[in-house]
Amino acid sequence: MNIVVGITGGIAAYKAVNVIRGLVLAGHDVHVVATEAALRFVGRPTLEAISRNTVNTDLYEAVAEVRHVAIGQAADLIVIAPATANTIAKLANGLADDLLGNTVLASTAPVVIAPAMHTEMWQNAATAANVETLRSRGIHLVGPVTGQLTGKDAGVGRMAEPDDIVAEALAVASGSGRGRDLEGRRVLVTAGGTREPLDPVRFIGNRSSGRQGVALAEAARDRGASVTLIAAHLEVPTPTGVTVLRVETTAELLAATSAEAPGHDLTIMAAAVADYRPVGVADGKIKKAATGERLTLELVQNPDILATISAESRAGRLIVGFAAETASSPEELVELGRAKIARKGCDYLVLNTVGWTTGFATADNSVTVLDASGDIVLEASGSKTSVADDILGVFAAALTGAP
Ligand code: CTP
Repeated sequence: MNIVVGITGGIAAYKAVNVIRGLVLAGHDVHVVATEAALRFVGRPTLEAISRNTVNTDLYEAVAEVRHVAIGQAADLIVIAPATANTIAKLANGLADDLLGNTVLASTAPVVIAPAMHTEMWQNAATAANVETLRSRGIHLVGPVTGQLTGKDAGVGRMAEPDDIVAEALAVASGSGRGRDLEGRRVLVTAGGTREPLDPVRFIGNRSSGRQGVALAEAARDRGASVTLIAAHLEVPTPTGVTVLRVETTAELLAATSAEAPGHDLTIMAAAVADYRPVGVADGKIKKAATGERLTLELVQNPDILATISAESRAGRLIVGFAAETASSPEELVELGRAKIARKGCDYLVLNTVGWTTGFATADNSVTVLDASGDIVLEASGSKTSVADDILGVFAAALTGAP
């Protein structure tokens, strides 16, 4: 394919080099159209070496070749990464004051954009309206995702990972892009770790970061779903464009999930739920006893939320559980998963392996999805964003009754 990669002036431009490389290594002819601002962030020689073609920037170069329309006319696919708030605004208004604007206007090829900007700019009403305009015109968005931004801050606005941009762009070009297959659907996601208080200053918690659940909520939103996120303790910011309900304890999570699940087509229980809570919560801070004396905590079992909501009548609604296991082999993981899905009674179970160093705070994940009969229906690995997308593909197909 002849692919135009548009690069605009944001810090994430340095990562666009890997987008170009991914497309070239996949066998495509890549032509870079960089804005003047983009070249302040990444050098022309790098872009030319990696793309193996001349980089185009100037509207007034090679005018005899009518380049301002020729590049767009020849393109089979246009990928803009990063797409700044400014570029998104220009695209939404059909502005053509630079070569990239002309190229997009002169093309009938699919356009995939990977926005990258600070959270405030992404959430600004102007940007939100511009993004809606682009979406309604059939322009595909990859990301932005939630994570570390340029400075010390973190939030939504980070450019999607280059591999994810390449995969989604090629899928869009081949007509198999995820599109908006959850349009009109309501999706409920629980995420993060519950905390059970011992006294006003202490709790029993777990190491869940909530990243995979947040990635699922974002991916469902991007596929057109109306999303509710029930957030227990998260180590990452909550996403924009979804309804967020905060909870702390398993009892609060049970109440919120029981109230919300009946109104949602798909419920994904990605939260790490405390199985036990202290038998009572002390009113004041528990004081240290005499030196050397032991302290015994008495715990009682919490209700099993997933089993509870799975047991309710729910025609047409899907319920999905997660299970993080410290299995020593893939076979053991699946065996544990089969026993768990039989016990919980949900429709699907997403399995992954965790350990002292794997699974929790990482950006990557590797999962196996079982259906209610214990058969493996998906194995996926990669960034939590791409894994979320692959997982949702299974449920979107199941909701529409596709094989
Ligand atoms: N879960 C739940 N309520 C609980 C415990 C777990 O709804 N009290 C849900 C989790 O959100 C997850 C799934 O059940 O979707 C599996 O969680 P997991 O902790 O693996 O299951 P447990 O039944 O607690 O089994 P284990 O003995 O392995 O901890």
